[in-house]
Amino acid sequence: MKKIIVTGGAGFIGSNLLNYLVPLQPDTLFINLDNLTYAANLHSLKGIEGAPNYKFEKTDISNPEAVAETFRRYGPDCVIHLAAESHVDRSIADPDAFMRTNIMGTFYLLEACRAHWKKDGDNLFHHVSTDEVYGSLGENGLFTEETRYDPSSPYSAAKAASDHIVKAYNRTYGLPIKLSNCSNNYGPRQFPEKLIPLMILNALEGKPLPIYGKGTNVRDWLYVLDHCEAIWLVVQKGRVGETYNIGGNSEKKNIDVVRSICKVLSEETGKPLAALEGLITYVADRPGHDLRYAIDASKISGELGWRPKETFESGLRKTIRWYLENNEWIEKVKTGEYRKWIAKNYGDRS
Ligand code: NAD
Ligand code: DAU
Repeated sequence: MKKIIVTGGAGFIGSNLLNYLVPLQPDTLFINLDNLTYAANLHSLKGIEGAPNYKFEKTDISNPEAVAETFRRYGPDCVIHLAAESHVDRSIADPDAFMRTNIMGTFYLLEACRAHWKKDGDNLFHHVSTDEVYGSLGENGLFTEETRYDPSSPYSAAKAASDHIVKAYNRTYGLPIKLSNCSNNYGPRQFPEKLIPLMILNALEGKPLPIYGKGTNVRDWLYVLDHCEAIWLVVQKGRVGETYNIGGNSEKKNIDVVRSICKVLSEETGKPLAALEGLITYVADRPGHDLRYAIDASKISGELGWRPKETFESGLRKTIRWYLENNEWIEKVKTGEYRKWIAKNYGDRS
């Protein structure tokens, strides 16, 4: 039986990936390696927790002995690496954990692979990364796989460092690696510190919808399941040593995203649109706020035939319906820690 460690499998993208892969690949054992930080939610894995080809291992990737022990126990053939501190605003407020997990954690995982895998083995370390490593675009242009790295935040700088280390392990030690750099994901099971779920939950509770700066920053939105399918395609068919950019070809200004959320919420709940839009509040900008991200996904579409299935409109409606139907999940993440973060980030921002 093939054994794949998925790190960060209790987080947003990781849990969607495991919910997709565990039933799809019954002959592969998936080991979810996650330290269960504030961003994790085991409730996201309820549908697969009893599956015979799924195991959960609580392991901190920034602890090299713990990582080595988990590798000894399972002898994985492949690692799909998603575990990270992932929120830009938190990296600005408190960068320490970002350096430990995103840089050192990746390094310890690579060391474990190097120690366990034979030179001619059928192995793969797939590194899930972000388009934020490329920095900011102006009004025109797209990020390609050749775009120079120019990260702006402690989060994206730590992810950029991890990308470089992964590539160095391929060049220096011949470790079989692949990378994918993706644009902004949205969808079910996303922690409500990120723009789309934060706005959905605030709007439902009649709380302000805080827009940083003028709301004209642009992000390229991709439905999370489209990202999961792209990752699996690259793992299976992508070329070793290569990077694949993944994006939704769906650029939106933040203010337009928030207006779309208000519109769909109004249609789905019957709340008056004007009342929802009246909650929009402009607040102090994010320091170092990248203006625009947009992905050229022609490499993955040309080589592997990948295309996103959802449009922003269809994906957003699915996402809003999911949050309306999953109150138990929402209650699980709205812990004291969540309330503390909301007070810290938005308390004196206006
Ligand atoms: P997330 O914050 O929702 O989940 C991260 C997961 O990693 C959590 O389950 C957490 O418990 C785990 N984790 C954190 N530190 C750990 C540690 N030291 N040891 C073990 N586990 C640890 O993140 P996400 O949005 O699902 O992102 C997953 C990956 O995808 C990240 O590497 C991120 O950089 C990348 N990415 C995210 C997006 C996006 O829009 N969310 C886009 C492109 C790339
Ligand atoms: O581009 C990929 C990246 O997308 C991932 O690597 C990150 O892990 C992920 O968090 C995301 O980063 P962003 O910073 O783009 O996402 P966030 O949801 O935090 O913010 C999206 C945009 O909305 C950004 O321009 C900031 C703005 N924003 C965000 C919040 C939370 C607001 O205007 N108000 C807010 O309250």
